[in-house]
Amino acid sequence: MQTSHIIDLRSDTVTLPTEEMLEAAKHAKLGDDYYGEDPTVNKLQEMAAQRMGKEAALLVPSGTQANLISLMSNCCRGELVILESESHIYWYEVGGISSVAGLFPWPVKTELGAYTSEDLKAAIKPKSLSYPEPSLICVENTHNRHGGTVLTSHQLNDFSDIAKQNNLKLYMDGARIFNAAIALQTTPDRLTKYVDNLMFCLSKGLCCPIGSIIVGNKEFITKARKIRKLLGGQLRQAGIIAAPGIVALEKMVDRLKVDHENAKLLAQKISKIKGIKIDLDSVQTNMVTFDLDSRVEDKVFLGKIKELGVLALAMSKNKIRLVTHYGIERSDVEKASAAIELTLAGFRL
Ligand SMILES: Cc1ncc(COP(=O)(O)O)c(C=O)c1O
Repeated sequence: MQTSHIIDLRSDTVTLPTEEMLEAAKHAKLGDDYYGEDPTVNKLQEMAAQRMGKEAALLVPSGTQANLISLMSNCCRGELVILESESHIYWYEVGGISSVAGLFPWPVKTELGAYTSEDLKAAIKPKSLSYPEPSLICVENTHNRHGGTVLTSHQLNDFSDIAKQNNLKLYMDGARIFNAAIALQTTPDRLTKYVDNLMFCLSKGLCCPIGSIIVGNKEFITKARKIRKLLGGQLRQAGIIAAPGIVALEKMVDRLKVDHENAKLLAQKISKIKGIKIDLDSVQTNMVTFDLDSRVEDKVFLGKIKELGVLALAMSKNKIRLVTHYGIERSDVEKASAAIELTLAGFRL
């Protein structure tokens, strides 16, 4: 089997900026963002706030920093934060929630990333001399480690009611909020109206090289701006980053549905291969996660498909993830599934 180019399905973070983004960066009007004088940054932040139905927005270098700034802007040190046990904040952000923000994470296990009302209520401890004060509930939409699963407005409404009843804030790691909105055939503001604030990433399926945006009310964003400075995230002529972000919001959102169609096709194709166990209902956006037969070592599997020109990621032992994105065509999906089939046939399962 021959492949002319590498089919990189490890993540949508591998996407490269489009020509239009590079042109926009080259011609962006710039200024010093410390003084709020970069017109391109200001334009992007206004667009982002408007798209998410909130008062204000703040451009920051990465999703990890966006989450950390948001945690620190929503909470005081020593407080308790309820989050999903497979969430990106809990798994992949170097424990900054504790080591930098000084917060106590309280993980809650879920099916596919959505709390049940009972589990969420049970996680909110009553006031006690012994417990840290709870202050925030986090959700992730779409949910990365659960395979790009979506939280609906109905579910978010429930979480919001519970948060309000208990005087807690609700925050969304919406790194891929546009994927959620496209999958639900809605607009992001219809999902974000249930949360106090959120962040989303420009640098994933939207193809920007750098950048995430925190969105919330003016008071929250003023606080976040200061914490961004504290963490070294205050940039100067950041219009160079913001200009591709504007192109992303204008041109790259609607096409995410193509990634979702490709993910579904890929999931259907590989579901027929011996040695793969996949829950097709979990394939809701641009991610395909499956269990590999325990007789096959994941490292060996990944090495063999790599020889055939396909890159994938192991999320945990024998749990493999494939992500579709800009630059992955239907023909790549066909080739990738053929490479996986050929590889597993070699194991004679
Ligand atoms: C759900 C989620 N949140 C946050 C992040 C962090 O983003 P970044 O890699 O820009 O720090 C990621 C990255 O993949 C993610 O998937």
